[in-house]
Amino acid sequence: TKQKLWGGRFTGKTDPLMHEFNQSLRYDKRMHAADIRGSIAYAKALTKVGILTAEEEKKIVEGLQTVGQEWEQGVPDDEDIHTANERRLSELIGPLGGKLHTGRSRNDQVATDMRLWLLGEIKEVEAGLKGLIRVMVERADTEKDILLPGYTHLQRGQPIRWSHLLLSHAFSFHADLQRLQQLTPRVSVLPLGCGALAGNPFVVDREFLAKELDFQSVAENSLYGVGDRDFIVEFMMWASLAMTHISRMAEDLVIYSTAEFGFVSLSDAYSTGSSIMPQKKNPDSLELLRGKSGRVFGNMAGFLMTLKGLPSTYNKDLQEDKEPLFDVVDTVSASFQIAEGVVATMEVHADKMRQALTMDVLATDLADYLVRKGIPFRETHHISGRAVALAESRKCQLNDLTLEDYRSLNEKFADDIHSVFDFEASVERRESIGGTSRKMVDRQISVLRASLEN
Ligand code: ARG
Repeated sequence: TKQKLWGGRFTGKTDPLMHEFNQSLRYDKRMHAADIRGSIAYAKALTKVGILTAEEEKKIVEGLQTVGQEWEQGVPDDEDIHTANERRLSELIGPLGGKLHTGRSRNDQVATDMRLWLLGEIKEVEAGLKGLIRVMVERADTEKDILLPGYTHLQRGQPIRWSHLLLSHAFSFHADLQRLQQLTPRVSVLPLGCGALAGNPFVVDREFLAKELDFQSVAENSLYGVGDRDFIVEFMMWASLAMTHISRMAEDLVIYSTAEFGFVSLSDAYSTGSSIMPQKKNPDSLELLRGKSGRVFGNMAGFLMTLKGLPSTYNKDLQEDKEPLFDVVDTVSASFQIAEGVVATMEVHADKMRQALTMDVLATDLADYLVRKGIPFRETHHISGRAVALAESRKCQLNDLTLEDYRSLNEKFADDIHSVFDFEASVERRESIGGTSRKMVDRQISVLRASLEN
């Protein structure tokens, strides 16, 4: 086994299981590039305060670059990513490698690596989220003519445009995009230079470090700098909310893809079959999206429990931040991509949606018709309700009732009653901001398109 970075005060051997238990390299190797990048910046900062000569800095930086390239070839066996990179550096350039850790601790190093790594991932996640929103907006733009019932309590409510429904989900993702952009400055706080806990005695220029590493600010308190993992919790909370939105959209589509609804069919690319029932085409992609949301909340809640009750600064419990965060990043990234693929490729059955538009979804419009003739809404609601009951008792639709039937309910009903029984006219009346009229759907599309620009 390799020599330990901290071996000096030890005489006994580490228990083999403890060695395994303590080792994080199998997962923290994902941060190898961030770790090298942080070390290169730190070497430069050490030169600025005279700990390294320019010549030494050059050797260390070149050594670190080589160590970075070697990661392509395979994973070494070390305690963690920081140990692996430092050990290899010293193998390559000799005792000079041992100067790099002057004033630095793995405590400020690991906090820096995690933030750097996450900042890189956030860019990818943001691009994935934008891709999903874009596909939804494009679909909404081309499918504005399609109408279907809007549901509350999963009961038919009022007619809406299919695009309006799609965009309702897109607006949840749009809020997620804003939230992601808003949490980024809190990830972009530099811990490097906080040392083990008390600060850096060689007075490295932390603002220089922040600039080198593209951090927006510097942790103002060293104990906070090494001990804080709220940025990880916050990102996972963000991801939990985004996954809730994915899950709710998936649930709509699961329902709409049943034979009973038949509003959409998923493409084969995102469906799977049954090992026994030959006819089955199951919406597994959607069910997995719905299911993965639970996994993401679990990671978030689990790590929050790890943090609760920890004493100040660094404790090894904090090593448990990695696997949940990595899993959350992988899960949301994949989920955005799958959701984008599902939405882009599913078939929408306008005819089925149209068939589900029964006349009763115009009962509100019927009440509104009388409102326009001066009757208070509370009364018109009741009158319309009686028309619904009458049609139900005759097993017919609202538009099958005669004008005489209507006039028996209220004398303000006139010839123009038939203008009510028009789904397109109903959606077009919803033309204040946020409504389902064509113009207001177009407005939503432009708002969302604009948000994708920045
Ligand atoms: N592998 C550790 C982690 O991920 C690095 C920090 C170790 N620091 C320490 N004092 N043991 O948290």
